[in-house]
Amino acid sequence: MVERANFGSKLGVILATAGSAVGLGNVWRFPYMAGENGGAVFIMIYINCVVVLGIPCMISEFIVGRHGQSNTARAYQKLSGGTPWTLIGYMGVLTGFLITGYYAVVSGWCLQYVWASLIGHLQGDPAYFKTYFTELSTDPVKPVLWTVIILGVTYLIIEHGVRNGIERASKMLMPTLFILLLIIVGASCILPNADKGIEFLFKPDWSKLTAEVFLGALGQSFYSLSIAMGCLCTYASYFSRTTNLTRSASQIALIDCLVAILAGLMIFPAAFSVGVNPDSGPSLIFITLPNVFQQAFSSLPVVGYCISLLFFILLSLAALTSLMSLHEVSTAFIHEEMRMSRKKAALVVTISTSVIGAFCSLSMGAVDGLTIFGKSLFDWFDFITGQIFLPIVGFLTCIFIGWFVPHHIVRGEFTNNGDLRSRRYIRLFYIFIFLVKYICPLAILVIFLHQFGLLK
Ligand code: PFF
Repeated sequence: MVERANFGSKLGVILATAGSAVGLGNVWRFPYMAGENGGAVFIMIYINCVVVLGIPCMISEFIVGRHGQSNTARAYQKLSGGTPWTLIGYMGVLTGFLITGYYAVVSGWCLQYVWASLIGHLQGDPAYFKTYFTELSTDPVKPVLWTVIILGVTYLIIEHGVRNGIERASKMLMPTLFILLLIIVGASCILPNADKGIEFLFKPDWSKLTAEVFLGALGQSFYSLSIAMGCLCTYASYFSRTTNLTRSASQIALIDCLVAILAGLMIFPAAFSVGVNPDSGPSLIFITLPNVFQQAFSSLPVVGYCISLLFFILLSLAALTSLMSLHEVSTAFIHEEMRMSRKKAALVVTISTSVIGAFCSLSMGAVDGLTIFGKSLFDWFDFITGQIFLPIVGFLTCIFIGWFVPHHIVRGEFTNNGDLRSRRYIRLFYIFIFLVKYICPLAILVIFLHQFGLLK
């Protein structure tokens, strides 16, 4: 039997999985969500959601993946003994596959912005930035080309396998990402009036706390930790038997939160410094921010140029490491289930997700008729994966682990077959089971019902 690939070191496990978690969700989604939802209050609630709900859900997926030592669909099948619970695994793979194409479109925009910054096209008045983004996202050629390029780069990494591809790339990309982050945070925080932005991020105004803030933070924590898309399960299938699942999940969550908060520290001090309100929603990064950087460093245009360039490089690297993990979900599935070589499987995934990405991109305005019930394909993918599949897979995984998988198996994985037998781990195990059985499914159900207006 061919030995299954695995990560070669603990650092590899942490950096690769943190690479999956750290992505557009941290640098793009988190800052605008925090900006729209009261800043510090959102962050406090967010951190609590990560600890109480995110980490247990992460550990649950790790348990399925490491126990199964196979792609997500097979891993659920093994643990469920072939019962209908297997379907959760298939749904996870499908979610990961569908989201890859649409995530690649946004990642492609990031690459286009790197290029535009490099050649000095990201300069102009505020209206110019808006027009620039609208023209880019509705262009029939450019975004499709960038989508294919970023998927091509992902392919080149993935085809080298788990250790030589994913692990090696993560070990280079993640430290680079941190360094870029620190440089931009430093530049942003020394701007005049930067303290207002820092206050916005760290001084909670509890009057801003609403159900919306709470639910927004909950949804964001799942998205940001890559929960319910097959990624964590697939990566955990490459963990060794001695990987401490609880510690790894906590370290990954910590890195993910740190990057999100540092992303806030890059953006808000600069925005407040030039008097721009950071509540512009999804367009924050692509329309508001280039303008903010330009204005904030107007006395030193070279610095503004460099910061803008570094920022979009950072964004692209973050997107790439997440894209790698999404791509790997389907690659592992096709490689193992359809008995195709890894390279061929990766190629099939790259081509098919490029087609999905191209349609998503064209549906943003370049081609008429790519809308269904008035929504573009891009929005449909976002909606179906993020708002329907993600909560369903997350909910069912918790119910599966909490209620159906025999506790001795769950405990065996949690404690590395009894190697972690200190009292602390036994206590942690009971807390974990309690959260996964009751609190996590309930919280996911609440988000699900709320987003369809069934819970006011
Ligand atoms: N966690 C990634 C981010 O924050 O951008 C997004 C993501 C990647 C979600 C991989 C799900 C996933 F499986």
